[in-house]
Parts: sequence; structure tokens; C-alpha cells
Amino acid sequence: MAPDRATALFFELFTGLPRQGPGSTESTLRALGLVPDVGPRTRVLDIGCGTGAQTLVLAQGSRARIVAVDTHPPFVDALNREARRLGITDRLEARVADMRSLDFPDGSFDLIWCEGAIYNVGVEAGLRDWRRLLRRDGHVALTEACWRKPEPPAECAAFWRREYPAIRPTSALLEAVGACGYETVGHFPLPASAWWDDYYLPLQDNLNAFRARHLDEADAQELADQCQQEIDIWHAFSEFYGYEFLVLRAH
Ligand SMILES: C[S@@+](CC[C@H](N)C(=O)[O-])C[C@H]1O[C@@H](n2cnc3c(N)ncnc32)[C@H](O)[C@@H]1O
Repeated sequence: MAPDRATALFFELFTGLPRQGPGSTESTLRALGLVPDVGPRTRVLDIGCGTGAQTLVLAQGSRARIVAVDTHPPFVDALNREARRLGITDRLEARVADMRSLDFPDGSFDLIWCEGAIYNVGVEAGLRDWRRLLRRDGHVALTEACWRKPEPPAECAAFWRREYPAIRPTSALLEAVGACGYETVGHFPLPASAWWDDYYLPLQDNLNAFRARHLDEADAQELADQCQQEIDIWHAFSEFYGYEFLVLRAH
């Protein structure tokens, strides 16, 4: 498939969803509660914000000043539209930017937030590269896929080997962030509802409509098959893996 066509189909499939990855309002607020002294002077950078489900929770759950970045301009436009609608553009601004080359000055932020997006660069690379953006003793909150149980069934293991071979047990993730120079303030698994209610359920509806719109297009049906497989794997094997929310302090 030509790269432009693949990108267009991918974003068509993900358009109109409340969020672009697993997560929930409750989980975002729970993680925010682990960060000390968040107030009107707190400067937050939300990396890989998507349409900003978690950004808006952060904005409404605190008085912090937030810059949110994503590479996909329609997501950024949607979040800025929502900020205008809510009358909070004085403390929430979304920008198109690549997490691989963020050009903010050193020490610009007290808190870096990254839900369901650090996998794009890898946890170690993200934590290492973004650290200069944090003030001394600044915090990072992120979610990352982890194994929850050893010896997942072969079909589940093969899926993750292909889709995200960097997945590891939660204990190994915690060790890795420690080795990157971060102290874990707290961590917890996302509940199953954070995968289903706001993510896979609306995605399944999108998927069915997408298939119907592209009935005779083999490439679109193949993309739909891949996405369906991800949902089916979750239904069958979600006890073996999940997302862990980590709140870290740089030291
Ligand atoms: C799985 S989605 C998560 C979005 C949102 N945080 C959420 O949980 O709903 C990952 C996001 O990362 C963005 N992304 C991918 N590569 C990126 C990059 N290099 N720099 C910035 N954003 C990127 C995608 O456009 C997408 O919005």
C-alpha cells in the first residue's frame, strides 16, 4: 500500500473516537493525584496528545498551564477547537510537533504527561530525551503496555512479538525507569473499562462502518482485519497484558 493511502485509511479509521488509545478520566485523575503541588504555576507538556482526552481532564482537574503536542494536525486542531469552546485557551494550547525533536528550552516544564504514546520512541529513549525539558525534580506520567502474567498463550505472544516486541513485565519496566534515573512515585494498572468503554467499543463501531464504506478495497479490509485482530486478542487474552500508569520523579 502506498504510504499516503495507508496513512489516510489509518486516520479515517480512528477519526471521531473519544480517544486514540486505552485510558479513562478516572485513571488520568488518579495519576494526577500522585503528582505533588499541581497548581496554576505548574507547566505541563502532554506528548502524543491525540484529540486530547487526557489533556482536557488535566486542564479541568487542575489549574495547570498545558502545552499539548502531536504530529497529526487534525488531532491538534480538534483539541484547540475544544479549548476555545471551553474558554481555556489562556492555559491550554495544542501544537503540531514531533516527540523525537521537541525544541522547547531546557527546564520548560514541571510535568510531562504521555498516555499511550511513548511506545513510538520507546520508554528509555523518551525518558532520556525529554529529561532536559523538565525542571529539577520534575515529574513524568506515562502509560505503557506490560505483561501481567507469565507464559501468555502462543497466539497472544505472537501478536505482541509482531506489534510491540518491547512489551515487558511490569517489574522489568519499573527497573528500566529506575535505570534511566527516575524514581517511581506510584503506579497502577489501567482497569479493563479503560480499554473497552472509551476505546475498543467506539473503535469497533468505527471499524464496522469503515468496512462497509470500503467493501471492495482489499487494502482497507486488510487494515480492518488487523485492527479487529487487536480487539479480538484483547477479548481473549487481556488477563495476560495491560497498560500500567507510572508516575515518576526525575532525580
Ligand atoms: C495511541 S495514540 C494516544 C493518543 C492520546 N494520548 C490518547 O491516549 O487518547 C498515540 C498518539 O501519538 C501520536 N504520535 C505518533 N508519533 C508521534 C510523534 N513522533 N510525535 C508526536 N506524536 C506522535 C499519534 O498521532 C497519536 O495521536
